[in-house]
Amino acid sequence: MSETMKAVRLHEFGGPNVLRYEDAPRPKIGSGEVLVRVHAAGVNPPDLYLRDGYRALPPEWRPNPVFPLIIGTDVSGVVEAVADDVTDFAIGNEVYAMIRFPKDLMKGSDAYAEYVRVAATELAHKPASIDHDCAAGAPMSLLTAWQFLIELGHDAPNPFQDLPHVPVPLAGRTVVVNGAGGGVGHVLVQLAKSQGAIVVAVASSKNEALMREFGVARFIDYTKVQVEQVVHDADLVIDAVGGENMERLLGVLKPGGALFLVNPLGFSGHDAARKRGIIVSSTQVRSNNRQLTEAGRLLNDGTIRVVLDSAYPLSEAARAHERASKGSIQGKIVLTVT
Ligand SMILES: NC(=O)c1ccc[n+]([C@@H]2O[C@H](COP(=O)([O-])OP(=O)(O)OC[C@H]3O[C@@H](n4cnc5c(N)ncnc54)[C@H](OP(=O)(O)O)[C@@H]3O)[C@@H](O)[C@H]2O)c1
Repeated sequence: MSETMKAVRLHEFGGPNVLRYEDAPRPKIGSGEVLVRVHAAGVNPPDLYLRDGYRALPPEWRPNPVFPLIIGTDVSGVVEAVADDVTDFAIGNEVYAMIRFPKDLMKGSDAYAEYVRVAATELAHKPASIDHDCAAGAPMSLLTAWQFLIELGHDAPNPFQDLPHVPVPLAGRTVVVNGAGGGVGHVLVQLAKSQGAIVVAVASSKNEALMREFGVARFIDYTKVQVEQVVHDADLVIDAVGGENMERLLGVLKPGGALFLVNPLGFSGHDAARKRGIIVSSTQVRSNNRQLTEAGRLLNDGTIRVVLDSAYPLSEAARAHERASKGSIQGKIVLTVT
């Protein structure tokens, strides 16, 4: 087997142009690991944050990795080799995973490559009915939606709050998804629907037809009307956008409701929430193969569909990042490996 492979590596932090498609050493697996031949890799916001050196963080929190490094967490592919102690996977199996997240958040999980090593405990069999591009688009968005709405699935400390995140009942409840067309948002909408929630989707107008297809009860185009002006009785608001003025979303909730923040940085409405008995909660997604297996059944039977915004060859990862930086993503961006 060749000792090298093609990969997209960083030799410095910066804009999309620092993504270099070049030869790199092919990874070697250790005990408990599987070598995956990557067919597609998903693009997620943390890939862009790391490429940029997490410039939004205070200097003392920024990464100081050893270059070159390979970014990316999500893959779908085929098992090329397995360590002797791995029993759940065999050569030729189709698999998907979110790799070493958040463990390797600051140094890259090596997904933008032809081959990647993955702990068997993070790897799941790919849902047979979907292709590698859609499967590569799933892991981070699907696990985020699952861990917020269904089951946290771990007892690691929560970087955003003292207490663990606890999902709330969904059946028959009114659930507002803000950022409903994005990678996490479009999965949240479908997952909440699958649990019997009455879903209100908030997104830009180009997402309306897709949201109607998903069966949302109501669609709100945030470029025309603010959700807090027209909805006041939601049981749960889940915000998959972040940024400024998330506090306004408290006005969408009935007293005793819950506000889940997928990107909580900058939220300052804790006192106002407490006064109205509203729970505000967040969590950081973690790799979990059991949940990928369980949630994968919903991908397999079509309950949840991964929508592809766009696909680029691995060699054009820089173009994929330029697309991602423009925003207004509908579903997922993926890199395909031939
Ligand atoms: N807690 C965690 O572990 C975790 C895990 C995954 C992601 N995240 C964070 O969650 C956020 C979303 O991630 P993602 O992968 O879903 O990103 P994404 O694919 O870029 O989706 C963001 C969506 O928000 C929409 N949007 C932008 N401004 C909006 C507004 N004012 N109101 C409503 N919608 C708006 C965008 O489309 P339009 O502009 O067309 O509406 C886009 O569809 C990111 O900040 C990411 O870092 C956190």
